[in-house]
Order: sequence, then structure tokens, then C-alpha cells
Amino acid sequence: MGGRNKITIIGAGNVGASTAQRVMEKSLGDVVLIDVVEGIPQGKALDILEAAPLSNADVSVTGTNSYDETAGSDIIVITAGLARKPGMSRRDLLEKNARIVRDVTAEAVRHSPDAILIVVTNPMDLMTSVSWNVSGFPSHRVIGMGGVLDSSRFRCFIASELNVSVENIHAFVLGGHGDLMVPLPRFSTVAGVPITEILSNARIDKMVERTRSGGGEIVGLLKTGSAYVAPAAAITEMVEAIILDKKKIMPCAVYLDGEYGVKDMFVGVPVKLGKKGVEEIIEIKFTDEEREAFLKSVDRVRSGVDEVKQILNPKS
Ligand code: NAI
Ligand code: 2OP
Repeated sequence: MGGRNKITIIGAGNVGASTAQRVMEKSLGDVVLIDVVEGIPQGKALDILEAAPLSNADVSVTGTNSYDETAGSDIIVITAGLARKPGMSRRDLLEKNARIVRDVTAEAVRHSPDAILIVVTNPMDLMTSVSWNVSGFPSHRVIGMGGVLDSSRFRCFIASELNVSVENIHAFVLGGHGDLMVPLPRFSTVAGVPITEILSNARIDKMVERTRSGGGEIVGLLKTGSAYVAPAAAITEMVEAIILDKKKIMPCAVYLDGEYGVKDMFVGVPVKLGKKGVEEIIEIKFTDEEREAFLKSVDRVRSGVDEVKQILNPKS
């Protein structure tokens, strides 16, 4: 009984390895990094482990190609997948990642039937739904990461616009993790004061737009890949809230069963994260304009859900 928590990270690419590093640095538990490519998870895990003494972190970090070593994990983070390459259509990417997420989920949950799943692979809202379907887990144990990253981007832009500490800024970005995501200025505050009382609409609109295209802005600069430092920090924030049973409220993609008037779909809303996973879905009151933007984003995710069903069950 007792002992350290075990966190498995599937996919030892940029996001997976950065998350392993951050989880180690915070001593949140023993880390297992798994990938299909031989040597990469082992090499990256060893490199991270060799930094543990410099982080005063008494945790193990293991790299592997076998799910046996993931057995009994408390949390499984899914980052496995392909990034979109030149010439690859959105549909191609969706097909490939849906199959990868289906297969890795099946393997992972067989070895860790009591784990909490955090899904990161894009298109994240859809991949979270695939993972939940395959896992057979109750929905409070399957959570998508998107809103924490998008909100961090929004907070960062607000802090630099106002020249105020990031610690004073709270922000919420809801809806799907795509270009129709819904940053909510009315619920975004500086030392408790909504930014709508401090900043002009024009300045807020600019930050909202930059947040919506935040992922694309990084891809445009990097050219060969997408963001991974802020994504890893966002994943670790969720891992920490669960491991430490913090009951922390943050926006995550979760299964809605009537909340917000949405049924049978994963979409980003504020939730309370603790030891059991999603411990509460927080329903905030939207204005008409906010509701319209949220439902537009939900509709976009919904059309993808049907497409994924066709891919994975072509006869249905
Ligand atoms: P990457 O290409 O650096 O890493 C992906 C890794 O997955 C590779 O090491 C690859 O070998 C591995 N992989 C592929 N198939 C696998 C399988 N069947 N089993 C185990 N591992 C497998 O990509 P990166 O930058 O780490 O991104 C990973 C995913 O996360 C992408 O889909 C990306 O779009 C998504 N992402 C999502 C974010 C979000 O907010 N939800 C933020 C950032 C990235
Ligand atoms: C991001 O928002 C690519 O989803 C990823 O950076």
C-alpha cells in the first residue's frame, strides 16, 4: 500500500518527453514513457532520470516499448500520434490519429484498469471521445487537455498587455480546442476585476483572436512541429490537480450529459479536478452572445464526432 503514484505517458515525442520532464521535476510520481520507436523512449527517459538529482526528485523515469511496464498506472497521458505533414489532408490525419488513439487506449487500459486518462493527441476533443469509447471507463476518468493551454495563452497575452503579474490573471477558454474555441473576457480577471472593465473591446478582441490562433502561431514560427512547452505545462497542471487531490477548477474537455444543453459529447467546460478525476462540472451562466459562440464551437466538434464514427465503424 502507499508508495509513489505512477504516471504513464504514451508518445515520447516533443509533448510526451516534455511532460515526463516536468512531472519528474515536480516529483509527482514515477514516470513511464512509452513509444513505438525503439530507443527513443529509453533514451529520453534516461536523460530525464539523470536530471532528477538536480531537481531533488526521488522518482523513477522509465522508457519502454512494452505496455507491461505501464501496469497499475494511476494516470495515463496520451500524446501518441502524427503531426500533420505537408500534403496530408485533415481527413488523413484524423484517420491515422483515431486508429493510434484507439489502439494505445486499448492496450493501456488493459494494464491499468483503474487509471485516469488524459488525452492530448489532436484533434483532441474527438480523440478524447475515441479513448472514452474504447476504454469502457466511467466518463469522470477520461479528460481532454486543451482549455488549460488555451487559457494559459490568454492569461499570458492579458498579463503582457496590462504589464501585470501573470499571478493576478485568471482566464477561461471553453468550447472545442480549435479555431472556434471560446475565450470568455467576462470571466477573465485581473486581481478579481473582469478585463471587460479595464480594456477596450478592440484590445480584448485582438487578444481573443491571438488566443484562438495560438497553436497556429507557434507552428508558423517553428515550421517543423507544434508547441510543446506550454502544452506539457498544461498537462502537468492537470496531473498535479489529480495526484494532489487539489479540487482545482480548470477548463477541460469532459463528457457532457445534458450540462450546458449538450448531450453525449466531449467539449471544454470548467470542471473540478481531484483524486477521482472530474469531480464536478461547473455550469456558468452565459450571455446570449457567449452561448451562441459556445454552441457554434460544439457544432464544429459534433460534425467531427460523426466523421470519426464512420472511420472506426465504417458499417454503422
Ligand atoms: P511528436 O511527433 O513529437 O510525437 C508524437 C509521438 O507519438 C512520436 O514519438 C511517435 O513515435 C509516437 N507514436 C506514434 N504512434 C504511436 C503509437 N501507436 N504508440 C506510441 N507512440 C506512438 O508530436 P508532439 O509535438 O509530441 O504532439 C503529439 C500530439 O499532441 C499531436 O497530435 C499534437 O497535435 C497534439 N497536441 C495537442 C495539444 C493540445 O492542446 N491538446 C497541444 C500540443 C500538441
Ligand atoms: C496547440 O494548440 C497544436 O493543439 C496544439 O498548440
